[in-house]
Amino acid sequence: TLKIVRTVADLRAQVGAWKAAGERVALIPTMGALHEGHLSLIQLGQVQARRTVASVFVNPKQFAPHEDFDSYPRGEARDAELLAEVGCDLMFAPDVSEMYAPGFSTTVNLTGVSEPLEGAARPQFFGGVATVVTKLLLQSQADVAIFGEKDYQQLQVIKRVVKDLDIPVEIVGAPTARATDGLALSSRNAYLSAEERAAAVALPNAIKAAAKAVAAGGRIDEAEETAKTAILAAGFRQVDYVDIREASDLSRLGPGPIGQADGRILVAAWLGRTRLIDNMAV
Ligand code: PAJ
Repeated sequence: TLKIVRTVADLRAQVGAWKAAGERVALIPTMGALHEGHLSLIQLGQVQARRTVASVFVNPKQFAPHEDFDSYPRGEARDAELLAEVGCDLMFAPDVSEMYAPGFSTTVNLTGVSEPLEGAARPQFFGGVATVVTKLLLQSQADVAIFGEKDYQQLQVIKRVVKDLDIPVEIVGAPTARATDGLALSSRNAYLSAEERAAAVALPNAIKAAAKAVAAGGRIDEAEETAKTAILAAGFRQVDYVDIREASDLSRLGPGPIGQADGRILVAAWLGRTRLIDNMAV
């Protein structure tokens, strides 16, 4: 049965008891509005560890003032039901005041892998993510933490933080869960109208075609441009980036053929008022 705790003290007490009993603990950080993608992370956690802890916290520090913090979908009762169904052991659902007490003044700042792409489009984002994830890892003292490849740059950023700050946890990436038409599952898909939802499949289709073209020896700059054109033609309002990069540090590749490099294609684009991201291996 799922247990719910709201304080760091209660979280530590439960995880401490499990670890004292020799049980390995996996942490799955989320912002709630859970879908099959999140649940696949819990299931991977259950393979990695005896106990799974899901955190549900809509982190104000990773939203800019003009972004969707207030309207971000919330539904704790349903989240708890889904976590219980999949056999998660513990839900950590702190209030904002438990995470950020009055006077809170510390931010985990990083350079390098956090700078391009999402870091350029959303300057406050990775500082907020790195700060809250560092706190969650230290609060829970989990042995392993699971993050989705859906947010590929976030996964690379967190690996970097954990390495740089010597946080004693193993970071595991999980494959992107997709709808049957190929659209990556996302809490923000709830913002899409029926018409937008139908158009959204252009995003995975375009980057899949680009990845294939580059794998077949095509030029990186041409594949990026073709993908951008296809996404705009499908009705997206704006493409923030569609970029083929080195898979682990996200440094630039191209403009010519990829050669032996390990690549990743990453995209962010606006469909009406909704910003969607996706990525695939190249
Ligand atoms: P959130 O968007 O709720 O995502 C929580 C976790 O679920 C992340 O690791 C994300 O990559 C993963 N995820 C989301 N959609 C997925 C999909 N379709 N397939 C596989 N995994 C998927 O990412 C965040 O929250 C926050 O930034 C967080 C890390 C919790 C820090 O606040």
